Amino acid sequence: MTDMDREGLMTAISSAIAAAPAPKSAMEQAVRLLKDAIPHYSWVGIYVLEGDELVLGPYLGKPSPHTRIPLGRGICGAAATEKATIVVDDVNADPRYLACSIETKSEIVVPIMRGNDVLGEIDIDSDQPAAFGARDRALLEPVAALLAERLAED
Ligand code: SME
Repeated sequence: MTDMDREGLMTAISSAIAAAPAPKSAMEQAVRLLKDAIPHYSWVGIYVLEGDELVLGPYLGKPSPHTRIPLGRGICGAAATEKATIVVDDVNADPRYLACSIETKSEIVVPIMRGNDVLGEIDIDSDQPAAFGARDRALLEPVAALLAERLAED
């Protein structure tokens, strides 16, 4: 995908998140647009923080066994605890990794933050090793910021 295409995708996601009637549909739209646009995004989902657990919300891809992840567990739990994006090039080499699909090779988790509070996170798996880099971060961190505005409504 060219940078120009990514700019168009960002515009589409931004409009969809703003126009969605409720936070849940804003999350659904973001997941759908990301999954449809980027071939190496094999699984795209959003976890929402409830108490000290990350609860799986909208997602596209194979069903995950990890529908509730305590803050101390997994790459998802680590990203929420560290309040920072985590990119894992080889999930099988990362002891934190909670397997979702045997095909998954790499993962990016981007926290959805409101100020210093974690509201949730965008979690994306790829069947390709080392699939995520600076361009994914540059796309997903602004999407997370837009989602934060809508999630804060709940
Ligand atoms: N791999 C994640 C768990 C979620 S599944 O990928 C959908 C983790 O290690 O936290």
